Amino acid sequence: MFLKNTWYVAGWLTEFEVGDLAGRTIAGEPVVFFRKQDGKLTALPDRCPHRWAPLSKGRLEGDELRCMYHGVKFDAEGNCVEVPAQEKFSPQLCLQPYPVVERHQWAWIWMGEPALADPSTIPDCSYLDDPARRFKTGQLDYEAHHALISDNLLDLSHVGFLHEKTLAAPPEGEPEDKKTGQSAGGSAGKRIETGVRYENWRVGDFGRAVIQAKAGGTGDVWSRLDYVVPGVFISRVATYPAGTAEQCNFGTPPADVEPLSDNISCQAVTPMTERSTRYFFSSGPRKVDVTDEEAEGMWAVASAAFDEDLDMIEAQQGIIDHHPGERMAWIDADKGPAMFRQLMADLMRKEGTPVEVFPPSRSPGVTAARPDMVEAAE
Ligand code: FES
Ligand SMILES: [Fe+2]
Repeated sequence: MFLKNTWYVAGWLTEFEVGDLAGRTIAGEPVVFFRKQDGKLTALPDRCPHRWAPLSKGRLEGDELRCMYHGVKFDAEGNCVEVPAQEKFSPQLCLQPYPVVERHQWAWIWMGEPALADPSTIPDCSYLDDPARRFKTGQLDYEAHHALISDNLLDLSHVGFLHEKTLAAPPEGEPEDKKTGQSAGGSAGKRIETGVRYENWRVGDFGRAVIQAKAGGTGDVWSRLDYVVPGVFISRVATYPAGTAEQCNFGTPPADVEPLSDNISCQAVTPMTERSTRYFFSSGPRKVDVTDEEAEGMWAVASAAFDEDLDMIEAQQGIIDHHPGERMAWIDADKGPAMFRQLMADLMRKEGTPVEVFPPSRSPGVTAARPDMVEAAE
């Protein structure tokens, strides 16, 4: 069971080319994407209403799509325009198009009631359009439930352990004890309108060599990580001269204070089926902060970390499937994931979608393993 009335990332815009049919599975539904001759992206159910052959195995004829089983043809609005050797045909031979928006390098699809699709509710990932950044992008397919990947992105306490050799490794030549500064003035995760936000300062951070040179030693690192419905992660990590955290009272740095470095990452978790998920990710350091080569190096580390997540989460999924109905234990770091689960469950109930709690142990009826998990989340 998936939240329907929401915008899912269907893919990078570059995945869809005029003349191609692209079959995808999104939130349990097979969808076929194609671009019309004028470039406009279109999404229809990937199921011919006749005998349910996948239309992604069909043929584009200009802006029209012919099912290549028995030849029934549809226009981009889903109307049937031809049934071979038959003059009149049933109005049931039609398809309901999905609302699609191309924004911030991604194709977004609305899987619910079309009349409710409001493009203004698409999360702001406009960083992806910033020409002043050196973007790297990628994607991975998980054989795992999407909630496990959301849990992972909502609980970065795993970074120091799962990613000890990648993201958490000290900069080259730095001693182990200098790898991080001290946390200060951070939030443990708080509910924002459409998700959960972590905002933190780390003072006395040695950072990477390029930052050390700019900062003349250590700097203060500010990070703000938003994880919003249905699974979009927007993180910004910026280094400021030492003392900045205190000057702004450990709050959000004012826009007119120039950071020494500034990296953003937009990521998206899109469920395909109950046990498969597509994960889109990016990294965007400013061009003024890093050379192409340095950006490549950062990307190699991040990519290795994403592989570490994949390996662990798929293994975790395997264990979960061997122990249906058993309970998991709670630690404080689960608060963020619990808040997000609660929000998703509330939205699903509101639209009438049955709430399937996953992992199944985190129930009954609520999204938490124990009642205090919900209280802690509120
Ligand atoms: S299944 Fe598509 S035309 Fe028959
Ligand atoms: Fe991770």
